[in-house]
Parts: sequence; C-alpha cells; structure tokens
Amino acid sequence: MPTPDQRASVVRKDLDNVIHPIVPHKQLEQQQLVIVSAKDSTVVDADGREYLDGMAGLWCVNIGYGRTELADVAAEQMRQLSYYPHTAMNLPAAALAEKVNRLLGGDNHVYFVSSGSEANEAAFKFARQYARHEYPQQNRYKTISRYYGYHGTTLATLAAGGMGDRKMKFEPLSGNEFVHVAPPYCYRCPFGLEPTSCELACVKNMETTVLGEGPQTVAEILIEPVMSAVGVAVPPDGYLPAVADLCKQHGILLHVDEVINGFGRTGRLFAHEHSGVKPDIVTVAKGISSAYLPMAATVVRNSVFKSFIGEASENRQVNQVNTYGGHPVAAAVALRNIEILLEEKLAQRSAENGAYLLDGLKTLMRHPWVGDVRGLGLMCAVELVQDKATKEPFGWGPAASSHPYSRRVAALMEERGLLTRVFMSVQLCPPLVISKAEIDRMVTIVDESLTAAEREFGFA
Ligand SMILES: Cc1ncc(COP(=O)(O)O)c(C=O)c1O
Repeated sequence: MPTPDQRASVVRKDLDNVIHPIVPHKQLEQQQLVIVSAKDSTVVDADGREYLDGMAGLWCVNIGYGRTELADVAAEQMRQLSYYPHTAMNLPAAALAEKVNRLLGGDNHVYFVSSGSEANEAAFKFARQYARHEYPQQNRYKTISRYYGYHGTTLATLAAGGMGDRKMKFEPLSGNEFVHVAPPYCYRCPFGLEPTSCELACVKNMETTVLGEGPQTVAEILIEPVMSAVGVAVPPDGYLPAVADLCKQHGILLHVDEVINGFGRTGRLFAHEHSGVKPDIVTVAKGISSAYLPMAATVVRNSVFKSFIGEASENRQVNQVNTYGGHPVAAAVALRNIEILLEEKLAQRSAENGAYLLDGLKTLMRHPWVGDVRGLGLMCAVELVQDKATKEPFGWGPAASSHPYSRRVAALMEERGLLTRVFMSVQLCPPLVISKAEIDRMVTIVDESLTAAEREFGFA
C-alpha cells in the first residue's frame, strides 16, 4: 500500500501528465480514485479502502481479478515467443482461434485484433469486401444499426453507434454508409407499444429502412443482442430471429456485437444463443481475455470466409493488417481465461446469480425515482426517472451522469463501497464470480444510496 506521500505524488504526476477518457479533468482533481490492487470482485484503492466492482472494470473482467495463474501463462509465453506478426502463424493464436470457433459452432474463421472497436471496424470491412466479391453488380456498402447503440470509439464505429452526444464533437463523420433505426428499448418504446402486443414494430421499422435504402445497397445489419449503452435494453422475444429472417430475405449479413454480451455476461456463453440465431459475423472482445491483456476478434462464418479464399492473383484475401492481431501472449492468456470460464461454468453462474440480482433489484421499484429494473444474466440496470408516470429522465444517455442527482447517487454508492456507473440508469454488471452475499451487499448499497439521495433531493 502506498504511503500518503506516495499517493499524493501519484495523483500529482497523473493530473500533470495524463489525459483520462470521458471523465472531466476538473472532476478528477476532486475525486482522486487511485486503484492499486484487486481480487475476485473487489478492488482496493490507495488508502486501503475496498469496493465491490459493480461494472467488472468496463464490463470486461468476467473471471474476476487476481488470477495469478494468468500472469504465469503470460510470463511463460513471453519467454517462448513475445511477438511475431500474424502474417505468419503462431501456436497460441491458432489454439485460441480453434477454441473460439468451436464455441461459436465450429464453422467459422477468426480474425484477431486488440479492441472491440477494431473488431467492429474489421467486420464493416469484411462485410463490404464480401459484398464486392459476391454481388459485383450491386453496391452493397451500408451498415444498418440502432439508435442508442454503442459499437466503439473510432470514427467508423462511432458513426455506426447511435449516441449523439458521443459523436457530435467529431461530426460530420461519414457519408450515408451508416443508417440508424429505432432500438428495441421497450421501457421507452419508440412506437409507444408494449412488448407483449407490439408485434415487433421495431423490426418492421428496420424492414422499411432496408426497403427504403434499397437492399442492394445494404451490406450488413449490426445488432448488440442486449443493448448495453442505453442501460441494458433486453429485446422482446423473437426480435433477433426476426432480424435474422430480414437479413436472409435480402442477402444482408447479420453482424452481432458480443463485445460486452459475450463470454457469459448474459447467462449464456453468447447472447445470440438465447434466440438460436446463427449470425454471419460475431465480434468479441472484453470477456475473451477478461481484460488481463487486450484481445478481440472478428469471427466470420465459413459461408462468408470462403469469399476471401483465392490465389494471390485474385486479390480476395482480407485486405488489412493489425500489428498486434494474434499477439501470442494475449492469445495464450485469453485461451486460459476461456478455459477457466468454462471449467467454473461461469455462464451458468451468470444466469443463476443474474436472476438473483434481478430479484433483489426489483425490490427497488418501491423508490419514487426508480422507473424500471431490467436485465439478463449479470447485466442489469435500474433506470432512474424524475416522474414514474411520464418517465422523464434525469438527462439523456451518458449526459445523465452529470445530473446532480445521478452524481450524488454514484457518490453515495462509492462512500458505501460500491463502484458503478450511473447514466440514465444505475448499471450493475459485476464479475461473473460475484457471490450471492456480495450481490446482497450491492443491492443494499444501491437501496441505501437511493434512500439517502431522495432525502437530500426532496423526497422525505
Ligand atoms: C457493445 C460494444 N461494442 C464495442 C465496444 C468497443 O470496444 P473497445 O472499447 O474495446 O474498443 C464497446 C465498448 O464498450 C461496446 O460496449
């Protein structure tokens, strides 16, 4: 543990030199959280205070912190082969590709990158290149995705995302290649309908968009099965199969973003398994290595991959290179991470403990400013509203995190030993190893923090 002087020196060094993502610099001057160690679902700050990690880092530390075995795997692989570009083959990347391919049905090929954004970027390019090869008479280049979705931070993935406040400072981002449709955000259904009787109006909206754009211009439809960014939107039954049917009908590739959803987060190994569809492209990151090292992948069905096979003279190969793609050390660590995930049945545990968490969170509906509680597996959210009848939010999207009420709720939870994000909702996506006792503590902390904040903000 650092001494108070060492801690102060780290903070000074950081504030003088580091650009942090998203967090306002002035806020960092007041909230100087320095994390020094972590084990299982608990992180420890420089003052020795322990917190439950309600977000598994950034929805990624699925097997929990402190698995020293992965440090040994990394050290051993670094001694053997620290790096060689993936234009050649290496053992760990081949083994990881085989594992990921098998888990996704066994008829795929895997392209490795280092982040979810890169995985989605590669997918956009694969979809367009595939369309060039397979529909030479057409001009299929568009990606259809949903408003409020998030698919990464690069310019193209931002354009594919549907979060205005994340992209407005960089716009205009692109031409018309990213087209957005209404999301299946049932609590705030864009069509004012109920999931039990809506007849999937949002998929009809998608169909209208496909027809309106011209199917012969659409390369892929991009879906995150359980939408994370908007505050865990679980679609109505039948949504993903209906999207898959639409894709099939019009020769459009179905690209499923499992960057957060994958590797057990929603209670199945992959979220699209809940509905039994077989996507053409699956992008994975985060849980593939539980963030012990950066690793991500674009997984392509062989029916698509075969379009990339040919002689050099045919120029059909994947037309890009990523320096760190197939990194042997990251691959070795990711492979062992997946083995642990399977050995410890963490997807099943996510289903069971996720249901337990959701039951606990549902008791919070009695709070005057809780509008909705929802989730699937260990991916849950408690949506905060100023008025239950009108569903008026405390700000829209991530911007809601700067509303004084949301900030106060987050601060009260932190004081009580829970770190998590508060946007429009309190997001709860802990490591999949979290215990029932820790879940109880998490729910109690959210409950107490809401009560305290309501008192401060005028609800007696
Ligand atoms: C659904 C989804 N896709 C893609 C990304 C981008 O991943 P990365 O931050 O690793 O680039 C994220 C990041 O949170 C995400 O939530």
